[in-house]
Order: sequence, then structure tokens, then C-alpha cells
Amino acid sequence: TDYAEQLKTEIRLLLKQKNAVLVAHYYTDPVIQALAEETGGCISDSLEMARFGRDAEQQTLVVAGVKFMGETAKILSPEKTVIMPTLEATCSLDLGCPIKEFSAFCDAHPDRIVVVYANTSAAVKARADWVVTSSIALEIVEHLDSQGKKIIWGPDRHLGAYIQKETGADMLMWDGECIVHDEFSAQALLKAKHLHPDAAVLVHPESPASVVEMADAVGSTSQLIKAATELPNQKFIVATDKGIFYKMKQLSPNKEFIEAPTAGNGATCRSCAHCPWMAMNGLEAMRDALVSHEGKEIFVDETLRLRALVPLDRMLGFAA
Ligand code: 13P
Ligand code: SF4
Repeated sequence: TDYAEQLKTEIRLLLKQKNAVLVAHYYTDPVIQALAEETGGCISDSLEMARFGRDAEQQTLVVAGVKFMGETAKILSPEKTVIMPTLEATCSLDLGCPIKEFSAFCDAHPDRIVVVYANTSAAVKARADWVVTSSIALEIVEHLDSQGKKIIWGPDRHLGAYIQKETGADMLMWDGECIVHDEFSAQALLKAKHLHPDAAVLVHPESPASVVEMADAVGSTSQLIKAATELPNQKFIVATDKGIFYKMKQLSPNKEFIEAPTAGNGATCRSCAHCPWMAMNGLEAMRDALVSHEGKEIFVDETLRLRALVPLDRMLGFAA
């Protein structure tokens, strides 16, 4: 629409004026992803977002995603201004892992090393020995397991179960889930596979084990996008947030991408394969955040930041 075009023009201008860069996740609206790409920002998975934000020359980072991504950016670059279209965009994993309870859980098992998913608050990261994202979780747990470490894993139980199965590591799990991926249904996927027998199945490991078991490729958003370009299939059934189709279609315009079915349909699914918090990142909110940072800027307490930086740096060092 004209209004959307006007907002994009304003954002392009404001980014230049404010020496700011857009860092967007693959689950955000295609309009946002295209804008990030066009203006020299990035669209990527959680690990790449953290790296890009840390290495960016610009003084201001506009993080389009959910709150933990903004916090991670601020923890890594305290000298930068980090703003988000909305600070209300949270994550069911973050919400389901309050620091007080998680900390007590860790205290009860002092013999275990604490590994947390990036989808957590700064406070939970500060309590952890390691932070991981889905693209590096397997390698890091493998590494810790090879050193004989016993692990506390939080908060995503599906990702945890997948890693435990792959590595055989001793992992004590926190009981959390992503409301988007938890809803993919193995039963419905089986039917979809019968309808499309030539399709490869791509699954994000935040999905239930029964769905992961049916996958031809399992991985983070960027790993699934890569698999879609590399696998010879012409058709893919994709079990992750539908925001990812933007990049998949861009890289493989002649391939067909089909949404994996959720347990409910239209009226009954909770998220219907799109994260409600990612969806809060709109053009208007982004323009407003660039005009006035008020209520849109990420701050992390300095003591907490320094503690959370340790496991984050550990992850980035391992991934390098
Ligand atoms: P990745 O992009 O790291 O795979 O993360 C997925 C996710 O759920 C982010 O909210
Ligand atoms: Fe959290 Fe799931 Fe949304 Fe990602 S898709 S932000 S894991 S609720």
C-alpha cells in the first residue's frame, strides 16, 4: 500500500540519519526482511544476529525479532543503542523460564553444568555456564559430554530431547516449549507426506520428537534454509515458522514450499505456524522506534550484563 511505501521511505532515511542498521530474524514479516536486506542489514538466525550486531559499525542496532535477541545484542555491545519495534515481543520459552525458579533448579543440582538456550532472559543467561542457539547446540553439548560433564538444560524440552538423543549426554531438562513448534503434529504430517510423497521434510528441533523423527533435515532456521537449497527435492514440507518461506523462496524460486500442518486448524491452533511475538514487528512500530527511542530501547543492568556476557562469549568463541 501507499502507507507501507511511505513508512519504508521514512525508515530508510532514519536509518541513515541515525547511523542505524536493521538486524532481523527469519520469522519476521517478509516486508521487514526485505528492508533489512535492501538497507545493508541482515536477516538471519539467532546466532548470526548476535554476531552481526556485535560486529556492526553502526552506533544503533534496530533489532526486529523478540526481546531476547535485543538483549543479546545489548549484552554484546553495551556501547551501542539497541532499539526494537516493540519491547512487548517476548517468547514462550523466555516466559516459561523465570529466573527465580530456574536458579533454584540449578542450585538443587550443583554437580551439573548449566546450558541455556538463547531464547531466555539476560538474568537466566547470567545464571548459565553456556548459552547455545539451535545452530550450535548439538556441537556444544557433544563437546561438554566428551569432557564427562553432566548438564542442566533449559528451557526447551523438545530441543533438549533431540540433543540428548543425538549425543547421549546426561541432561536434566527444564520443562519449556515454543508455542509455535510444539503445535506441529506428526499425525497430520504423515498425511501431508502421503499427499506429497516426493517432498523432503524440514524440521526445526523445537518441534516434538515425533515430528523431528520424520525429518529429512533438522536444524536452525539458517540450516533449514541451506538444506532447502542443497537437497535435490523440488518440494518441501517445512515445520517451522512460516516467516522462513521468504528466504527459502528467494533462494530457490523454482521449488515448492508447503507449511507443515499444526495440530489444530484455523480456529483451533494457538499460533498456526507463526509466532505472535515475531508478528508484532511492523513497519509503523519500527518507524516510531527510530523517531523516538522512548519505551523502545533495551537496557541491561551492568552487573547482570557482565555475568551474561561470559556464557555468550563462550558460545561465540566456540562457534568461531
Ligand atoms: P534460530 O533462528 O536460531 O533457529 O531460532 C529459532 C527461534 O525460534 C527463534 O525464535
Ligand atoms: Fe519463542 Fe517460538 Fe516465537 Fe521463537 S517462534 S520467539 S521460540 S515462541
